[in-house]
Amino acid sequence: MSSPKLMTVYGTRPEAIKVAPFIRAAVNDERFKTVTVSTGQHREMLEQVNTMFGISPDYDLAIMEPDQSLNQVLGRVIKGLDEILIKEKPDVVIAQGDTTTAMAAAIAAFNHGARVAHLEAGLRTGDIFSPFPEEANRRLICQVSSLHLAPTPEAKENLLREAIPECDVVVTGNTVIDALVEAQKWQVEFSDSKLQGLTADQKIVMVTTHRRENIKAMAAIGRAMRALAMHFPDVTLVLPAHLNPKVRAAVFPEIQGLDNVIVTEPLPYDQFTKLMGMSTLVLTDSGGVQEEAPSLGKPVLVMRENTERPEAINAGTVRLVGTSQDKIVEEATLLLSDKNAYDKMANAVNPYGDGKATDRILNALAEMFGVGQRSPDFSAS
Ligand code: UD1
Ligand code: UDP
Repeated sequence: MSSPKLMTVYGTRPEAIKVAPFIRAAVNDERFKTVTVSTGQHREMLEQVNTMFGISPDYDLAIMEPDQSLNQVLGRVIKGLDEILIKEKPDVVIAQGDTTTAMAAAIAAFNHGARVAHLEAGLRTGDIFSPFPEEANRRLICQVSSLHLAPTPEAKENLLREAIPECDVVVTGNTVIDALVEAQKWQVEFSDSKLQGLTADQKIVMVTTHRRENIKAMAAIGRAMRALAMHFPDVTLVLPAHLNPKVRAAVFPEIQGLDNVIVTEPLPYDQFTKLMGMSTLVLTDSGGVQEEAPSLGKPVLVMRENTERPEAINAGTVRLVGTSQDKIVEEATLLLSDKNAYDKMANAVNPYGDGKATDRILNALAEMFGVGQRSPDFSAS
């Protein structure tokens, strides 16, 4: 056959970070033709990543409106992609993860008879309502996918338990580690003056929160930050705040007026990973941050009731603490005051990838179309 056409669709910050290494490599891979579509589900937060990795999508649906419902996002992405699919006729559409953009892209592609390749396939919490709506999104994408690119052996096992044929699953590692490896090569200064005085020898706690199902708990997360800031005046807490106004409305009132709490706008990826590298401890409900911090040897307290990423918990670097104020304060206090407890968690582990996921993904796609051979699966050992 002539070169198969890959169409990559993404729309939010974490998808952009995770597809960036893949898009850049695919464009230079002579086995394929490529087309790249941004849905624009995010705006400023997506633009930061496109700029950083030098990616200009061929199409931008620019669908972001403040406070859209999930169904508005879904409807507008499917409608916008419909026209592009008719024009471009891709052989395979690549969707990353579990956002509404990814689910919409998979369904739209399937309805056009294109094959779907799912990056970061096989993550499961087992609770369809948590995270919401991501657990349902990833299961829906799975149902219409022909190639399941699982980041870890555990994710592959989840897929096999759901009777996905083993020959359709490839373990690739997560491209977030490819992105992180690249970002670590960049020399970067903080652009926010509030961060410019930070030094690596002081104690920094990085906090991120944005999950939809956590919005009700976010005031408690803010109160936990306040309690930690007051109990540990020598520790600086930094919150690069998500742009969702609901997140800001819940957290900001709880952390006002504290000298050792810094709130910033979303940080460009290179500055964010620099800050993570300087941090003593990370408190987060993010998926991507749970994957990155372990490879930097940073203990992570995950402020969620469950996680689809058990690998770093099993490796001892991540602990699930839920969203109650008392529990967050208790667990963070232990790590900030007990060196033995801290040292036990502060191990650099790489269960999520070795920086070579992109090559494995391209080779798996090449095999699918008879223009190459897949690589051996990623294994963390
Ligand atoms: C989305 C994904 C979630 C992912 C997260 C990463 C869905 C259902 N959720 O959640 O899986 O973990 O992105 O951050 O797909 N906003 C801006 N500018 C931006 C981005 C967001 O103003 O650049 C504001 C808008 O008011 C927007 C709101 O944030 O309506 C929420 O954005 P949305 O994409 O709906 O959900 P997220 O919570 O970001
Ligand atoms: N991130 C970033 N700047 C920030 C916060 C996060 O570049 O201010 C990066 C982070 O390194 C990770 C990704 O964004 O790669 C995670 O995005 P988010 O937490 O929004 O979404 P999730 O991973 O939970 O879907």
